[in-house]
Amino acid sequence: MADVAVIGAQWGDEGKGKLVDWLSARAEVVVRFQGGHNAGHTLVIDGAVYKLSLLPSGIVRGGKMSVIGNGVVIDPWALVAEMDRLREQGVKISPANLVIAENACLILPLHGELDKLREEAAGKGRIGTTGRGIGPAYEDKAGRRAIKLIDLAYPETLPQKIERFLTHHNALRRGFGVPDIDKNALMKALNDIALAVLPFAGPVWKLLHEARRAGKRILFEGAQGVLLDVDHGTYPYVTSSNVVAGQAATGSGLGPRAVQYVLGIVKAYTTRVGEGPFPTELEDAVGQKLGERGHEFGTVTGRKRRCGWFDAALVRQSLRIAGVDGIALTKLDVLDTFDELKVCTGYEIEGQSYDYLPAGIDRQTHIKPVYETMEGWGDSTEGARSWADLPASAVKYVRRIEELIECPIALVSTSPERDDVILMRDPFEG
Ligand code: IMP
Repeated sequence: MADVAVIGAQWGDEGKGKLVDWLSARAEVVVRFQGGHNAGHTLVIDGAVYKLSLLPSGIVRGGKMSVIGNGVVIDPWALVAEMDRLREQGVKISPANLVIAENACLILPLHGELDKLREEAAGKGRIGTTGRGIGPAYEDKAGRRAIKLIDLAYPETLPQKIERFLTHHNALRRGFGVPDIDKNALMKALNDIALAVLPFAGPVWKLLHEARRAGKRILFEGAQGVLLDVDHGTYPYVTSSNVVAGQAATGSGLGPRAVQYVLGIVKAYTTRVGEGPFPTELEDAVGQKLGERGHEFGTVTGRKRRCGWFDAALVRQSLRIAGVDGIALTKLDVLDTFDELKVCTGYEIEGQSYDYLPAGIDRQTHIKPVYETMEGWGDSTEGARSWADLPASAVKYVRRIEELIECPIALVSTSPERDDVILMRDPFEG
């Protein structure tokens, strides 16, 4: 039996939440290992909609252990608000089913403020972040001044840590012309929130090690997508964490053999939210239609997502970088009413052909996609649960994608509903 990591293979919003939820039916532990509440995962279960940002998608199912690993940056106020929201929907959350890495770094309110100040100051050069303070929090982690969850358990030494942290941040704030943060006010806010979050803190690395030894099935839930990876994405228009499957190990305190099967989630077309290069973007009526049919609005910020044709060259690259073993293709039904579909097979820049997206924002911005055209199917694929339910042209489209990305399709998801899935190969079987 394999432990599985689920990662997004495009620019996020591929529909990971639904697949993680579907797979978590047979996992005993579900782990988030990077990102923070910039993620937005929507689950539709028996018509009820659950929106998750920071909590692992497994939390909605009873009897699972949900884990937030050390690679995640945690806004404790956002976490408490999310837990309250879900509890109102009847979801049970307690230290018996949620453990948070005690060595995870915190996102504080000043991180969100700094994120927004920078974006405003950057004007047209902005990244288009979610404004959640993700980048500034990861900077503090790498800068060795972050406040960690476990620090809240030691109110006597917390003031020194805050002092060091604010020396850096207040200098930055003065540069932006905003008032200093008061140390005592921050200390009080942290002491107040500590009571709500500390009961969940624990040695996640140990818990996961023991779970593995006991033969429990672990599912690692990625956020964002490979093209937003801080190393491998369209830098600087990326998030500030590694999102590839290797991070599942680092971000949860396990060794490199923690994952035996990597499932890449791939949308049947392409979307991106925020700024940055997007070779197959459609700024015309076709793009508009994709957005409308796909309800392409950000779960976290409500922003309209940019839409475009499927980019096989980009996905092939992502799958290789992330070490993906098989993919789940999502939102095929969004393409149901198109007469013809285009698929990008490679690029051209200044007369030169590429079968991958070369690094560097200068080349990425000017790259031209090379397309092949396929016929649409003009019939509904929504809710299909077997190949036999798919129109012939839809099967052709899916098979062509599989060929171009050079990776087997393990699953096709045909609606937001939990069980609308065509299963080709069970990821847990490895
Ligand atoms: P940040 O992660 O808030 O710093 O945002 C950096 C970039 O990643 C922006 O382009 C965001 O729109 C994008 N981003 C962050 N989280 C997600 C997500 O969950 N889905 C899609 N895009 C995301």
